[in-house]
Amino acid sequence: MQEKIIIANWKLNGSMTLLHNLLKPIANFVNLNELHLKLIIALPFIYLYPALNIVMNKNVIIGAQDVDIHSYGAFTGETSINMLNDIHVQYVIIGHSERRLYHRESNDLIAKKFKIVKKFGLTPILCIGESENDSNLLKIEKICQSQINPIIDLLGKKAFNNSIIAYEPIWAIGSGRIPSLNYIKNTCDLIKNYVLKRQNIDEKSLSVQYGGSVDENNVREICQISSINGVLVGSASLFLSRFLKILSIVSMENEKLR
Ligand code: PGA
Repeated sequence: MQEKIIIANWKLNGSMTLLHNLLKPIANFVNLNELHLKLIIALPFIYLYPALNIVMNKNVIIGAQDVDIHSYGAFTGETSINMLNDIHVQYVIIGHSERRLYHRESNDLIAKKFKIVKKFGLTPILCIGESENDSNLLKIEKICQSQINPIIDLLGKKAFNNSIIAYEPIWAIGSGRIPSLNYIKNTCDLIKNYVLKRQNIDEKSLSVQYGGSVDENNVREICQISSINGVLVGSASLFLSRFLKILSIVSMENEKLR
């Protein structure tokens, strides 16, 4: 069985105080290896380096929330894959719906980001998902495929080897509403099957997560969908007791499935 992955996305939140009050206790709380969980915490660029020091010799993995498509040069304000690699960041979220919306990131640009992340041997966490108007299975399928296809076109048959896809219906993000469990299962299965059909990769090298209003009250039932490989948590990851609860629930459900 694939290990479950929990991704926490702090978005535009954080401070040195929060690193000490939230990240540090999380890193000290559990032996994630024993729980058979992988925990990735995606932070704003400025906190990556101090965070890496805090989690040194712990099982928590620090990830970035974005990357530029250029490795270096005259691109003011950007952060390159060279820089992430230099400080040993291993995971990078790309194509989050907030980047697609507020920064007009296209599927083609996101494919380029995916490519540079893979080229440097880091693991991309690709976010995909539909808006509320498109929430019937046929439309979702079309939209998710349109978000996946440019990556396969650019990178070929092994594009998604060692990659994570976070399926996040846009309307569920930050809204407190999640789709039905059937909806989540069907969509995640559809995404995984589609990618595997078009790729020449081992099934285990692709993880498909669910994200969008995951919290301590709904994570148990989401994790009972055995075909999904974990969850991506936004706002609930900013509160220590809520997030620790999420971690223990996921690990308990994981144990039942083993
Ligand atoms: P949320 O965010 O858990 O606050 O809905 C999830 C995300 O945007 O990745």
